[in-house]
Amino acid sequence: MIEETVDQFFIDRIQKKEIFSPLLFFKKLTLSITCRLILGASAFQDSEVNKLSQLFLEILAGISSLLRFDFPLTKYRKAKKAKKNLEEYLRIIISKRRQNKTLSDTSSLLNILLEQRDLEGNSLSDLEIASQILAILFGSHDTTANLLCSIIVQLEFNPFWREKLRDELKDKSSKPTLFSKEDSNLFIYILNECLRINPPIYTIPRKVIKSFEIADCQVPEGWYIILSPLLTHRLPQLYPNPEVFDPLRFSPSRQEHKKHPFAFVGFGGGAHKCLGQDLAMLEVEVIVTYLLKHYFWRFHNNLDNSDFLKHTLKRIKSLKISLNN
Ligand code: HEM
Repeated sequence: MIEETVDQFFIDRIQKKEIFSPLLFFKKLTLSITCRLILGASAFQDSEVNKLSQLFLEILAGISSLLRFDFPLTKYRKAKKAKKNLEEYLRIIISKRRQNKTLSDTSSLLNILLEQRDLEGNSLSDLEIASQILAILFGSHDTTANLLCSIIVQLEFNPFWREKLRDELKDKSSKPTLFSKEDSNLFIYILNECLRINPPIYTIPRKVIKSFEIADCQVPEGWYIILSPLLTHRLPQLYPNPEVFDPLRFSPSRQEHKKHPFAFVGFGGGAHKCLGQDLAMLEVEVIVTYLLKHYFWRFHNNLDNSDFLKHTLKRIKSLKISLNN
């Protein structure tokens, strides 16, 4: 299903040499893949991707806006409206599916949630299911699209690795290999190195439930703290020359990411570690393989390595590329 969606997306939406934003393109593509997996292929028409994607963009703009006032025309008001529209959209799909479970969608997450019962035999309400699905859709496509952008930028900065990967892919079947867990999987090293150097989630907030001491500082219970995958991944005591792109850090002879249980936290760690990690890696592998096998890309921005390292998310937003066979 993932390969089919990727194939269809590139063919239908990208004209040769057309200049486009890879971030918006990847967001729509990953949103489309996740919707199909969660809602089932029959519920989701391709024409709806643009509409959904626009609603998510409005929510994101509202969350990140500094002025959170509920007045007409503010980003915050627009975001609230977009969230309501999305919930309504999902509730219509959910109630239709309750009445008529489509055979082809039996393995979708929506159908699985509809089957769930608690100890008293109660099922989840439409609203509970809608908010679960909304959270997954929201957390999944933006992060994956950002990682895809930083991969193509890093491969542009490091043509040696890009061509090595392209060569390796030539001889491989198009089937994903991530789960074969081969020790010498260059793809995994490159993907991990991109996730290390430019983690899409920079900060993870936590409330302290039990006071603790760190580096001679006492952190009291009830405080809010921020964990940073970005800063962790650039600690020289874990990753020597942390700003250098070096995929072989992850090779069996070095394994720098295993120096500490929380040295590599692009997908978080502990009880709340990302539940979509395997899906994200699979999507990224299929999409990057497709790109490298079918296209050469050209960037239409002045890219600068040290500037990109400092302002990754900002620069990704303004990226423009075109593709050629
Ligand atoms: C490259 C892509 C992704 C990255 C970098 C990423 C990163 C993360 C991180 C850092 C967390 C931990 C947040 C915390 O501890 O507070 C997290 C949690 C989560 N992620 Fe992802 N994620 C990605 C893709 C996905 C996908 C594709 C899905 C689902 C389809 C997903 C679903 C979730 C869920 C449900 C949680 C919450 C887990 C919990 O609280 O128990 N993520 N993700």
